[in-house]
Amino acid sequence: MKKILITGALGQIGSELLVKLREVYGTDHVVATDIRKNDSEIALSGPFEILDVTDSKRMFEIAKNHQVDTIIHLAALLSATAEAKPLLAWNLNMGGLVNALEVARELSCQFFTPSSIGAFGPTTPKENTPQETIQRPTTMYGVNKVAGELLCDYYFHKFGVDTRGIRFPGLISYVTPPGGGTTDYAVEIYYEAVKRGKYTSYIEKGTFMDMMYMPDALKAIITLMEANAAQIKHRNAFNVTAMSVAPEMIASEIRKHIPEFEIEYHVDPARQAIAESWPNSIDPSAAREEWGFAAEYNLQTMTSDMLEKLSKKYSPSTMAK
Ligand code: SER
Repeated sequence: MKKILITGALGQIGSELLVKLREVYGTDHVVATDIRKNDSEIALSGPFEILDVTDSKRMFEIAKNHQVDTIIHLAALLSATAEAKPLLAWNLNMGGLVNALEVARELSCQFFTPSSIGAFGPTTPKENTPQETIQRPTTMYGVNKVAGELLCDYYFHKFGVDTRGIRFPGLISYVTPPGGGTTDYAVEIYYEAVKRGKYTSYIEKGTFMDMMYMPDALKAIITLMEANAAQIKHRNAFNVTAMSVAPEMIASEIRKHIPEFEIEYHVDPARQAIAESWPNSIDPSAAREEWGFAAEYNLQTMTSDMLEKLSKKYSPSTMAK
């Protein structure tokens, strides 16, 4: 990776990956794109282009003008929004992906796009879900993710594009909140704990899903992209995880820092159904063996860090600035 183009650069993953990549590869070596520009430090910190990923011509022009050798394609709708607007999700998630793969093919770029635990479905083994297993998701997001994994494999086998991918669990971060995902509760709970000392969860007590702290996700992307091609067999896409948790487990960890924290439940049937169709815990051993994946943060260390960072972000002195 010497010159990188990121789509969805102002989203949950993009806004942090962009900063990290600019630190590692140099500011001018990372071209940020998103459908909108804002005046955040992130957007203003280096090359930025407005890009709707369904516009293949513009995507090609930007990539060519900046002479990029790597595309990190992040722009997509998450699971709950995709379920509410399935046709839009198909057009954006699949249309954007095929456009980005075409640009990678034409300009001989290395390519990364995230898959998700959403690529599994109700007939997938729920515990310690293997790398290779049944993938019959029942959501539009899952259909997009499975099709995306296959399409990336296809571009590798057919055209030799160096495609790589990771099936991310729910990602937890304090910089840019996710939007429209099923795992978003595990981010909101920390914001609400700091701001109000209580949280109403739309996911039922006892519902397990995998999660990971954003610094581990960023490290995983860079490590996989830098891995020697001869080392990696699975390419699209590797299971990774750092923890398998249910809402009450996060709540009790928060209580170690904020003893009066309260959680209650008001279940959203749509998102609960999606959560129940996903694995409880996935097996990341292929990622570990093939490119040395290791998560640094667990529930305890992630909770301490999230609460510390959010308390600073929402402290009266910071807010007054
Ligand atoms: N975090 C995503 C979602 O909930 C899953 O990949 O949609």
